[in-house]
Amino acid sequence: MREKYSGLQIAIHWLVFLLVIVTWCAMDLRGFFSREYRPWFNMVHVSCGMTILVLMIARLVIRLKRPAPPITPKPKPWMTGMAHLGHLVIYLLFIALPIIGLCLMYNRGHPWLAFGLVMPHAADSNFELVDFFKHYHVLLAKTSYYVVGLHALAALLHHYIWKDNALLRMMPKKKR
Ligand code: HEM
Ligand code: HEM
Repeated sequence: MREKYSGLQIAIHWLVFLLVIVTWCAMDLRGFFSREYRPWFNMVHVSCGMTILVLMIARLVIRLKRPAPPITPKPKPWMTGMAHLGHLVIYLLFIALPIIGLCLMYNRGHPWLAFGLVMPHAADSNFELVDFFKHYHVLLAKTSYYVVGLHALAALLHHYIWKDNALLRMMPKKKR
């Protein structure tokens, strides 16, 4: 039985972590800069957001094929149950959030850029739909701060308090 997640799973996990930080910061810090930089912040936000969507789907497919490596010492059943529920919520959240963002941008009905390329958009603006998607995008985006915070806290509790190998299974191999 493997002791750790695979190198690919570990790489995607930490790459998504970095991309989520950049995606959050692009929105939360854009107000501190002059308005002329706004399109640049927006493009960074949507480009990283779309990359997160692709990586989350890829890692979900990999995860469905490869069971998670066991934690030693074995946690209590309620902890394992909470972890499974938490991971399911994270997958759903970081797949739904960028999809809703894409629906929002599409229905604005004017050209927008991701990765420096013009993306498809509706022929006409539909403000009702834009407001609907924006409401849920902002709601899920705010939820994502708490979900990631709790997830990181759980990982640290595993490592420092319960002293099992949960976190080490998600860490890159040490070079000897
Ligand atoms: C996992 C990926 C994503 C995360 C974590 C995320 C997070 C956020 C956050 C934190 C905000 C600011 C919310 C606020 O005003 O309090 C925001 C706004 C926004 N996001 Fe995303 N987002 C993601 C993906 C996307 C994608 C893929 C798109 C579009 C292609 C997108 C389009 C937008 C737009 C247009 C706004 C601005 C709404 C406005 O204030 O006009 N987002 N997002
Ligand atoms: C945006 C940030 C993050 C996202 C989206 C995220 C997402 C995920 C997901 C979906 C899994 C489940 C993997 C599976 O399918 O089995 C996972 C596992 C894990 N994550 Fe994160 N994570 C984030 C940040 C962090 C941070 C900051 C830490 C550490 C402080 C961390 C530590 C772990 C550990 C230890 C596991 C393995 C848990 C287990 O198998 O029981 N993650 N993460």
